[in-house]
Amino acid sequence: LGHLNPVYMPEGGLRAAPTSASSSKKPKVAVLGAAGGIGQPLALLLKGSNLVGELSLYDIVGTEGVAADLSHIDSSVKVSSATGADKLGEALYDCDLVVIPAGVPRKPGMTRDDLFNINAGIVANLCAGIAKYCPGAWVAIISNPVNSTVPIAAEVFKKAGTYDPRKLLGVTKLDVLRANTFVAEAIGKAPESVSVPVIGGHAGVTILPLLSQTTPRVEVSADKAKALTERIQDAGTEVVKAKAGKGSATLSMAYAAAKFAESCLLALQGQSVVECAYVESHLTDLPFFASQVRLGRSGVEEYLPLGSFNELETKNFGALKSELRGSIQKGVDFVHKS
Ligand code: NAI
Repeated sequence: LGHLNPVYMPEGGLRAAPTSASSSKKPKVAVLGAAGGIGQPLALLLKGSNLVGELSLYDIVGTEGVAADLSHIDSSVKVSSATGADKLGEALYDCDLVVIPAGVPRKPGMTRDDLFNINAGIVANLCAGIAKYCPGAWVAIISNPVNSTVPIAAEVFKKAGTYDPRKLLGVTKLDVLRANTFVAEAIGKAPESVSVPVIGGHAGVTILPLLSQTTPRVEVSADKAKALTERIQDAGTEVVKAKAGKGSATLSMAYAAAKFAESCLLALQGQSVVECAYVESHLTDLPFFASQVRLGRSGVEEYLPLGSFNELETKNFGALKSELRGSIQKGVDFVHKS
């Protein structure tokens, strides 16, 4: 009876049922914040994924319209929708993977940390629901500031007694996509053929691309490496500025999140997949850290070594620590004070 998921019953009662990991049905994936700028294209991409069995869309407004629209697409993925806090249990019932892009995005002039006051509570509430209705699910967090919202989720799960650090993942894949794209442009290669590890966190200087570990090897001057690093760190702000008050990256983020979700689903099937993600980690003296991790059936199964840093990377690694540590602590404190 060690691996039991609660069965959702509309009247609010719970009874135990075996997790779906033990059955052969295709996974149920929930998107929380499904009617938003990221949520909608993410749901579209997942509706087209043959790794998904059911797509459960949840938001506080507008979910039914998105679900009705997507349900006309001729893929076998079943689409369901639920709106409002009293339907959260229905949305989460029996989920294998929960992806969270709920919350407010940045406007010009804002840092990701400026979103903390609103998004911290949203993520904490949604995670309390996950602990209650699908405690065995993998959880992928997109809502910013990721550097704090992942520690918030961890503390909520610890309080509920459901925390499994291997299954809680902060989504930093967009930083990897950006690094691949910008480096490919700089060296005249196809972006699909370039792979840059990005470690640290997901905000400004905490985003640390390891250009010296790029595959294939890139040889660029120190000045060029510095400029590329800074562009990768500020790439989100490029989009915020270009959208001029209409939000932050949504389409590229949805693409990144859909790819990341598919990696999680392949891992759930037992395949070994390497992704960069922001996770609880012992690779550095910071309790949470983004790095390359190997995902398998039970979540993060291996932390790939950080490898050696060049001079610029060593300097940047030193510079990110205090900001990242502060953001982690802010998340932990939020849960313990509330
Ligand atoms: P959006 O405002 O377009 O959509 C957010 C959605 O969340 C809305 O539909 C809203 O109704 C919903 N929502 C609000 N409170 C909710 C709750 N309690 N439960 C469920 N849904 C709720 O924002 P957008 O552009 O989709 O961004 C979402 C988040 O993703 C932001 O925090 C943004 O900063 C973050 N983000 C993260 C990135 C990353 O690399 N991890 C990249 C880009 C954005």
